[in-house]
Amino acid sequence: MNENLIAPSILSADFARLGEEVDNVLASGADIVHFDVMDNHYVPNLTIGPLVCEALRKHGITAPIDVHLMIKPVDRIVPDFASAGATYITFHPEASEHVDRTLQLIASEGCKAGLVFNPATPLDVLQHVIDKVDMILLMSVNPGFGGQSFLPSALDKLRKARKLIDESGRNIRLEIDGGVKVENIGEIHAAGADTFVAGSAIFGAARDQDPNRYDTVISAMRNALAESPS
Ligand code: DX5
Ligand code: ZN
Repeated sequence: MNENLIAPSILSADFARLGEEVDNVLASGADIVHFDVMDNHYVPNLTIGPLVCEALRKHGITAPIDVHLMIKPVDRIVPDFASAGATYITFHPEASEHVDRTLQLIASEGCKAGLVFNPATPLDVLQHVIDKVDMILLMSVNPGFGGQSFLPSALDKLRKARKLIDESGRNIRLEIDGGVKVENIGEIHAAGADTFVAGSAIFGAARDQDPNRYDTVISAMRNALAESPS
């Protein structure tokens, strides 16, 4: 299996100090930056777009940026995120009229492509496009907001997705998003995830002595991962 990556969701960061927040969370041991894009149409909330992604790159962020598009339509904005420095671009299959075309578009823009599955969305579409997918993101909450509780049905779905990935023989990341905490990250890993989004659990955690550090919560997550069976 792939090495485990911890992906703080900046949805729960202090947006007035975003560059610093991202610097601090990376300096505290995070691996990639999870960037939630919401449009008040596909999901009932409105967040950030390519300008903010570009601003993080200009600020000096070199870690991978994992852009999670919760928007409809998808295609028009993909080149903008590619030019803004996105590493991964993931989207919900319900939000694209032509899923295969959108996957090809993301790859042609030089980014890694991923599909995101809501709690009630089956994985069926994967059987047709798994050869074009670099990441599978399973939602363990309904998309739109941080701070919701992990839906345990995601564990079985993770096991199914892990099986599909292993059968494909491809190097595909299996990411989980929603309600991930120190207390449940071990069982989520044991179910097959290798990439862990956490928003409120990281940015909302009591910070270390130094108010700009997130080491305690991130190292507790790593310890829980190390102790969980894979
Ligand atoms: C929800 C977003 C998540 C969210 C996770 O639609 O996709 O990335 O920020 O937040 P927590 O970790 O607080 O559930
Ligand atoms: Zn997300």
